[in-house]
Amino acid sequence: MIKQNGNTIHLMGKNISYVLTVKNGDLLNYHFGKRIADEDYSARDDKDTYGVGFATNMRSLDVMAHDYPAYGRTDLRSGAYELLNSFGNTLSETTVTGIHISDGCPSIPGMPSLFSAGRGMTAEITLTDEIARITIKLFYTVFDEYDVIARSAVITNLSDSDIILSKAYSASLDVPYQDMDMIYFSGSWGKERELQKTPVRQGLRIALENNRGGSGHQLNPFAMLATHGATEETGEVYGFSLIYSGNHSTTAEVEQFSGLIRVLQGISPAGFNWTLAPGDSFYTPQSVIAYSAEGVGALSRTYHDVYRSHLMRSTWTNKNRPLLLNNWEGTYFDFTEEKLIALAEKAKEVGLDLFVLDDGWFGKRNSDNCSLGDWIVNKKKLPSGLDGLADKINKLGLKFGLWFEPEMVNRDSELYRKHPDWAITVNEREPVEIRHQLILDLSKDEVCEYIIDAISAVLSSANIEYVKWDMNRQMTDMPHPGYNHRYTLGFYKIMSAITERFPNILFEGCSAGGGRFDPGVLAYMPQIWTSDNSDAISRLKIQYSTTMCYPVYSVSTHVSASPNHQTNRATTLKARADTAYAGTFGYELDLTALSEDELNEIKGQIAFDRHLQALIREGDLFRLENPYEDNYCSWEIVSKDRSHVFLYACRILFKQHTYDRRIRLRGLDPDATYIDADGKKYSGSLLMHRGIDIPYPWGDFATAAIELKRM
Ligand code: DGJ
Repeated sequence: MIKQNGNTIHLMGKNISYVLTVKNGDLLNYHFGKRIADEDYSARDDKDTYGVGFATNMRSLDVMAHDYPAYGRTDLRSGAYELLNSFGNTLSETTVTGIHISDGCPSIPGMPSLFSAGRGMTAEITLTDEIARITIKLFYTVFDEYDVIARSAVITNLSDSDIILSKAYSASLDVPYQDMDMIYFSGSWGKERELQKTPVRQGLRIALENNRGGSGHQLNPFAMLATHGATEETGEVYGFSLIYSGNHSTTAEVEQFSGLIRVLQGISPAGFNWTLAPGDSFYTPQSVIAYSAEGVGALSRTYHDVYRSHLMRSTWTNKNRPLLLNNWEGTYFDFTEEKLIALAEKAKEVGLDLFVLDDGWFGKRNSDNCSLGDWIVNKKKLPSGLDGLADKINKLGLKFGLWFEPEMVNRDSELYRKHPDWAITVNEREPVEIRHQLILDLSKDEVCEYIIDAISAVLSSANIEYVKWDMNRQMTDMPHPGYNHRYTLGFYKIMSAITERFPNILFEGCSAGGGRFDPGVLAYMPQIWTSDNSDAISRLKIQYSTTMCYPVYSVSTHVSASPNHQTNRATTLKARADTAYAGTFGYELDLTALSEDELNEIKGQIAFDRHLQALIREGDLFRLENPYEDNYCSWEIVSKDRSHVFLYACRILFKQHTYDRRIRLRGLDPDATYIDADGKKYSGSLLMHRGIDIPYPWGDFATAAIELKRM
């Protein structure tokens, strides 16, 4: 709901108020947090400091919460945008010249953003700089059901000559200063989204910036500002999640009187420059800002609900996903058609639904040094061709899925020999190869068209019902400023064309593991490979923190071999499956090498996961024990009607006398009785207030997976 009351614009979510006031033409943020009464706040001197600051002849914005500030006049903190105007200077200052409130939410040309699905309201506020001759339209969308505000901006050149934008954030928000921490997610290959926390202090600008091409292993485009000591259930938390898959930036800076923390989020300004011809507009991606007065857990559940209902557009979003076997860790490049069929037969025998053929099926690819770009089946390896193989797999009663890495090319490929200029290269410089590959230049329409056609041709040539879309390198040699954004727009163009053309195919995102786990990808692909590190114990931290923003069922989780190929750690089959249930579940190992006992155990796991799928897909997540802080990790998923519960728990290392562990559940119906698989009954109040005892066995890496049902 949005109300305009005089010069106050009041956006109301489920429990939140986002209150903007217009004062002397300035767009000021009066309040963002818990719901407050609806009044005209614009006449209030909310801060006597409106006139305080360095300017003696005009109002000072330096200590004010302008909602899309410019650097350089009466505000010398970081601004939300920067430009070189047509008069050759960088100054800008805006006045509110329009307020328009409408139902629904606008789409952003060329980029994914929240969709309305018949819900939501949007305030469109126009800021004008008559001297620089630009307008900035700010969009604010709110939904009655959630505690989020989705923001984006459009900057338009009204002058007669070019304007150069060097910075265009999606949102700026001045949060009232308290003792706060910035929580963010750093990492690298195999250890994605590690939970980090750093205090926000005056004089130190925090810049969480990724300039590696995709959204990256190194820093996820999601951060939280939380009151110091905030927990899963307590404390005020602000979340900032950018719907974008390219270079990104989230910064925080405390103003000099300690009244405000300014957070900016958007495209990274590093290496960014965008020329706006007269009449042209620049569209920023959307930043989804959430608020919780009840800790991090509630904030995560908000993102999960919003992204499931208003971001993920795949026809698979609200369906149970096929349980799969992927051949990558089972065979790597070393497979034959017979081997694949043998694997698929075992997959069928244990009860799986889908067989996925990973890298190595095309060109002459037997290692990672050639053939990317040549999306033609290798008949030496697969004499029946893709259609023949798909047919054989289908006849076994399984769906067939395929791996691609469409954005890449090897220099040793027919595609590169024919179109060397399609790879990102600059003049006579030797391009940087990573994993022996170059990136195709997605800023070129003809390259995007080629990829759309080449991938579509393969998808039409056989009964392919699942695609794993990989992207295995960082972006170097970007030829000019703004290039990364053009590439990202090309990526979205390809994704939307292919997913629209093949609406029934299930797409899974991937980028050398979880290097592009972001809301932009999620908009098209409802599940994303979380990490190439498939070790259950490493996955505790990775999955725990990935769910801080992303829905549990978007987190792709596979049971792989023991000892694990990435860590050499041995874990039980039970521990590996228990840890993988909270996600889109599958197997990635050589099933033909397993014993009858192991195959029987897997049959039981698959049957168990089928019970859980709808719950994991739609339920509310409660993180109970934090593996970053302790020797334990546990999480719980509760159905919206509180009738179905899945509890996962892990004691990482065995220490003497740590057999039993009591865990208190959350989110249950206190008056209901719940029953577990052994017929043991517990009241909801007992489970929540006293807790359930987990009888861990002797030894390291002990896990429990418990399903409870309301009687
Ligand atoms: C990286 C992915 O993360 C892996 O799962 C696998 O698909 C390889 N690429 C194949 O090259």
